[in-house]
Amino acid sequence: MEGLSGARLLGPVLLLSSLAALVSCHPGTCRHQAPPPEEVVHQVHLKPERLTKRSSPEDLQLQIEIIYDHSVDQLPADQRRLVKDKLFPQAIDYLQKVFSVRRRVGPVLLSRQCSTNQYLRKRDDPHRYCQDACADLTRCGPVSVPQHHLQQCKVCSESGKSCGPIGPPDGPGVEGSDFVLYVSGVTTERCGQENIVAYAAYCQLEAELDRPIAGYANLCPAMISSQPQEFEGMLSTVKHEIIHALGFSAGLFAFYHDDEGKPLTPRFASGLPAFNESLGLYQWSEAVIRRVVRLWDIRGGEMVRHQVHVLVTPRVVEEARRHFNCPILEGMELENQGGTGTELNHWEKRLLEV
Ligand SMILES: *[C@@H]1O[C@H](CO)[C@@H](O)[C@H](O)[C@H]1NC(C)=O
Ligand SMILES: [Zn+2]
Repeated sequence: MEGLSGARLLGPVLLLSSLAALVSCHPGTCRHQAPPPEEVVHQVHLKPERLTKRSSPEDLQLQIEIIYDHSVDQLPADQRRLVKDKLFPQAIDYLQKVFSVRRRVGPVLLSRQCSTNQYLRKRDDPHRYCQDACADLTRCGPVSVPQHHLQQCKVCSESGKSCGPIGPPDGPGVEGSDFVLYVSGVTTERCGQENIVAYAAYCQLEAELDRPIAGYANLCPAMISSQPQEFEGMLSTVKHEIIHALGFSAGLFAFYHDDEGKPLTPRFASGLPAFNESLGLYQWSEAVIRRVVRLWDIRGGEMVRHQVHVLVTPRVVEEARRHFNCPILEGMELENQGGTGTELNHWEKRLLEV
């Protein structure tokens, strides 16, 4: 029986040993920021997957579908070939082997953004409704999501009395995949401000387990190098960025679930956890992250108290203890430097960088 056991959320099952280097931060190469809440659509309702040839229980490797934005096709030929023929296929190939999912949903069919940021939910109806109108374009980061990946627009009149679908019906969506990654190559404001090759984030999460079902990765064209000696570094950056989009992000800690599929952080009736305005993030519970104080012995035998944030989900604890051969370790320490950009979005670099 499928029951409640669903897809395993990606974050808590990251294998420290193989992925440690990938989610620790190399200065100047990653400034992952949890996307602002208004850019993220939560609780997207997907239908259970139709029985297909893909559904054999042992074949639950993560399947990622890459969709290239037209901006990638406008890059110079050498960059375009690098991105489409090497960087992304190789990164995806690796990540699909490393991650698995518990349960398939499908097809991936994204929710439309509203023309204002006003949306409503009706009792006993899994979909969200826009007040008045859906936006003409639904975005995932800098990318406009193709119309055929979108659900039908659902709106409520101004009074809220009459609600219903409007406009073109549900598109076919993306069949046979667990996660859709939109890849673009746009010189955005962020590319100008930060010395980064690429950045990425999730944009929509499915309703049952809060697992990201779509995200984007934007490459900053000026930083794409087709020099062979730069390839390994770029590939590692692309893998690292996709891991943020798949779920390793301070913006999602409050959405992690346990093995039975239950949320590790309490929810309001809305289905969302509390939002912490001062952090600009959904507030996680102690079942996900704890603050612990370490005593540091600095030169001359002087002791200082050092407070750290530690990820404490069971599999991370298990792997951290094994990795450091330390059976009393509370969990794995998160990065505490770099400001809201990198803070808490990476493993502590002092401990997990090769
Ligand atoms: C919000 O986050 C700050 C910084 O971590 C913390 O001190 C504060 O207690 C949090 N607020 C709530 C309501 O949890
Ligand atoms: Zn990062």
